Amino acid sequence: MGTTRRLGSSELFPTDTPIGPDAMIGRRDDVTRMATALLGGTNLVVAGPRRTGKTSVCDAAVAVCAQEGAYTVAADLFLLPDAAALAEALTLAALANRPVLRAALARAARAAGHAWDALSDAATIRAHQDLGDAGIDLELALVLRRAQAGSAEALRTAVQLLGVIAEADGRRLVLFLDEFQEIAGGRFGDPDAVTKMLRAVLQRAPAVSVVFAGSIEHMMRRLFGPSERALSQFGAFFDLGPIHPDEWRAGLRERLALDGCAIADTALDRLVATGDGHPRATMLLAQHAHAIAVEELRRDLDDAIVAAALPRAMRGEALCHQQTLELIRELGRHAQTLAQRVALGAVLYEGLQPSTAARTMRRLRDAGIVEQDGPRGAWRIGDPLLRRFLAGLPALGRIALDPPGG
Ligand SMILES: Nc1ncnc2c1ncn2[C@@H]1O[C@H](COP(=O)(O)OP(=O)(O)OP(=O)(O)O)[C@@H](O)[C@H]1O
Ligand SMILES: [Mg+2]
Repeated sequence: MGTTRRLGSSELFPTDTPIGPDAMIGRRDDVTRMATALLGGTNLVVAGPRRTGKTSVCDAAVAVCAQEGAYTVAADLFLLPDAAALAEALTLAALANRPVLRAALARAARAAGHAWDALSDAATIRAHQDLGDAGIDLELALVLRRAQAGSAEALRTAVQLLGVIAEADGRRLVLFLDEFQEIAGGRFGDPDAVTKMLRAVLQRAPAVSVVFAGSIEHMMRRLFGPSERALSQFGAFFDLGPIHPDEWRAGLRERLALDGCAIADTALDRLVATGDGHPRATMLLAQHAHAIAVEELRRDLDDAIVAAALPRAMRGEALCHQQTLELIRELGRHAQTLAQRVALGAVLYEGLQPSTAARTMRRLRDAGIVEQDGPRGAWRIGDPLLRRFLAGLPALGRIALDPPGG
């Protein structure tokens, strides 16, 4: 025992990156449903709380679409500085779907040192000939290159190019735009202008289907909800289903078995209950439980190990929780009190002006701290570890409206 190298706890239970289809627990139906919709030409909007598996499900669905013969293009707006960079990313990803171009692009990029520069010479000329054979004028890529100075034009051209390539090759093209709420920040251009452009171009490209994903649910609903906004009703909201406790139990057992570990039924129940259905929190608890087992040179996880995993996970998250608390405090005088009340399941508005309380709740929601089940539903904090942190803070004393000493 202990002679063979153990699998790393964060390899078994990753918590800081989207996870591959093989490591995903549950969500198979979501992936199939999403892929079917996209292959059928439906645009989707995945707007959900942070760290709940949006990117993982979208990645998996996009991979299924690729297996089914669709072209695929993915961009994470969070990682891109501006419209020109987004235009470049979309163009390169789109062209890479064509096997001839993929090789040419890779070669040219190595030679030019930068893929974008490569596009202007070798690869673009190949693209031009290649698509030209299909009777399509592919000045587009060259236009794109020229349009570098005018990044709005470059972005429009890049989005148009998606439709051109799809049509030329008789394929469906699935576009995945992750962290789409970044559009609202303005660095890709005026948000209204960008969303109008996307809508106008994509509506004329029936071979392209798009999945927009974003973390700040409210922001996404404002961009796509039934308002006069540009993308209004362009995409159907796609809600990720819950991961059932049975799926968690089976999935966590399976992953532990990869390191030759077993877990007692009661310990497993405890882990799943503490994770409270939250994907990342559950994985984090499993990660710490496994790490403790490794330290103790054991391959059987019991209740004591799972119990010890919780304070370790809380310590690991301490910095993150502290930052969240600071963010909450910036949201207004009563924000911390209200967040703590949500965490404790206490009466929300007691001692507060209803309008002040409602405004503060909206701010907490927009900041991604609290969620609401439906427009008039109960408020809650989805991440059980954050909830525990907030519930454990000392109460702020008598709030509010009373004069000091009154
Ligand atoms: N189906 C799943 N099975 C197991 N763990 C999952 C699953 N989905 C998500 N997770 C956990 O949540 C973490 C975050 O996943 P992912 O990046 O897909 O979520 P996200 O909603 O896109 O997050 P963000 O808000 O940061 O963009 C993963 O590292 C993993 O720990
Ligand atoms: Mg994500």
